[in-house]
Amino acid sequence: MCGIVGYIGSQEAQSILLDGLSKLEYRGYDSAGLAIYNGENIGFCKSQGRLADLKQKLETCLLPGNLGIGHTRWATHGKPSDENAHPHTDEQKMFAVVHNGIIENYAELKEELIAKGHVFTSETDTEVIAKLLSDHWDGSLVSTVQKVVQELRGAYALGIISEYEPDKLVAVRLASPLVIGVGKGENMIASDIPAILKYTRDVYLLDDGDMAVLTPDHVQLMRVDGTPIERETIQITWDVKQAEKDGYDHFMLKEINEQPRAIRDTLAGRIKKGRVDLSNELSISKEDLKNFERIHFVACGTAYHAGMIGKYVLEKLVRIPVEVDVASEYRYREPIVNERTLFVAISQSGETADTLAALKEAKRQGARILAITNVVGSSVAREADEVIITWAGPEIAVASTKAYTSQLIAVYLLGIYFAQMLETQSEQQLQTWVEELLQLPDKAASLLQPEQVEKVESYAREMSKHSSLFFIGRGLDYAVALEGSLKLKEISYIHSEAYAAGELKHGTLALIEEDVPVIALSTQKVLAEKTVSNVQEVKARGAYVLGVTNEADAELSKTADELISIPATLDLFAPVLAVIPLQLFAYYACLQRGFDVDKPRNLAKSVTVE
Ligand code: G6P
Repeated sequence: MCGIVGYIGSQEAQSILLDGLSKLEYRGYDSAGLAIYNGENIGFCKSQGRLADLKQKLETCLLPGNLGIGHTRWATHGKPSDENAHPHTDEQKMFAVVHNGIIENYAELKEELIAKGHVFTSETDTEVIAKLLSDHWDGSLVSTVQKVVQELRGAYALGIISEYEPDKLVAVRLASPLVIGVGKGENMIASDIPAILKYTRDVYLLDDGDMAVLTPDHVQLMRVDGTPIERETIQITWDVKQAEKDGYDHFMLKEINEQPRAIRDTLAGRIKKGRVDLSNELSISKEDLKNFERIHFVACGTAYHAGMIGKYVLEKLVRIPVEVDVASEYRYREPIVNERTLFVAISQSGETADTLAALKEAKRQGARILAITNVVGSSVAREADEVIITWAGPEIAVASTKAYTSQLIAVYLLGIYFAQMLETQSEQQLQTWVEELLQLPDKAASLLQPEQVEKVESYAREMSKHSSLFFIGRGLDYAVALEGSLKLKEISYIHSEAYAAGELKHGTLALIEEDVPVIALSTQKVLAEKTVSNVQEVKARGAYVLGVTNEADAELSKTADELISIPATLDLFAPVLAVIPLQLFAYYACLQRGFDVDKPRNLAKSVTVE
């Protein structure tokens, strides 16, 4: 997501900051900025867009000086714009702040600051930090920062400089990564190691609640309450390319592993006192909801598969009829759309041309538009009346993984929120769902433990020797089977088909012969017996079956040749867990066949043509 770089020393800060930010570009961003102290005051330069846009601006507003902070912003609070770009400052421009993460209580802090007469120029949560610094200034930068930090709730990594004490660069970390690079006569901060590797390989890693005070010749570490910390630097031995992937071989593997965090972030702040609360994001009232006679989920690729789950979830929980369409088909089938239609577009990028075109058509016909997207300020988000952001963070690999599971979480939140409003489910049932939703990050993490991953890897290496493979499942498992099959096709180029398990016998069973691999999903208790019957049908024709099921389900384990167990969860949420081994399966099948994991042939991450 966002990137932070800070420098204090004797060299010109500008080029070092720009160079550092360029090493963080892979994280995804939509604006960038610098603040540099020039010996008299702090100069700022910020620009929406790429670093190239910032560099162009810098040609006309040079920022000389040896102390500075820089930032690449991936919009969260407020659209991508020059004003919302970091660094942020106070009215007198005495402080400059860069921030990664989210300040959860920023709205109430902002209200208090406005009441005191502070004037805000951006929509960001970060600006409250700059205003708080000026408001709480007590003559010492360190103690003022300590006071301010005490008032912040949420996740943050901060880089702060001040005209009051221009011999210091202060850094604070809480639940958002930050490293300190130790050089000779110069020191640096960064949100990720690649940004500083050119200058030093000696780093301190900050822990949650740590603070660092940097001068050109010294780094002082302490807890935010001032308790000093003794810590050894560590020596970085790996190269920049590896570091961008956090040590993973591919972005896809990194993103698969980021899912527990992405799920947690998508849930964060949206469950209050055991209930789903989307009232800060959505303006849909109970009356609006009662007025909707149909819901249309429209999306492409992986997002369409999330939409299929959305149909199931919304119909079950809210009892409003739902249709789900691939966006490229939607417009041309003359769907029945009017002001009593809620149109839900799901799009990771928010820029997919087919999805956007379908959305505009539904809008033209009077539908209320809700977007579920991973990119704040994207075209889909801008066109929509309502937006739910999935906080998966930038997804770089073409094959979507963490965006998909985050989309599922968004759909569950939406379903539960609407069910609460319409009172279509009992309080007890709603509570059970909410409690289980909160367990999903840990359960997802358990599927990423080495012994689980190795098991999937060995099946994938073996089964990827075949030229064709089938995925089967019923109900929600069918939707997950489609996603598992798509992942495999996208990156391993193995022919694969996903079938509703009960439909096999109506034609596709003809393709099942000795040794054909079949991945059978059975996570839905009411459908388990029926699925096992379908597994027996393929077994009888010689298929080699890999089952994916909840730990408790013994039936499939007796029928399948091999078994991958996922943690027990409510049937409704099983897709979030069942898809993880399938993503890993596709990943290792691709490795086995020697193809480019992150950039599969013929495919693009964001498809902006219809
Ligand atoms: C492309 C990508 C897919 C993605 C689809 C929809 O085809 O390769 O991975 O699922 O677009 O993208 P969106 O950004 O709208 O979710």
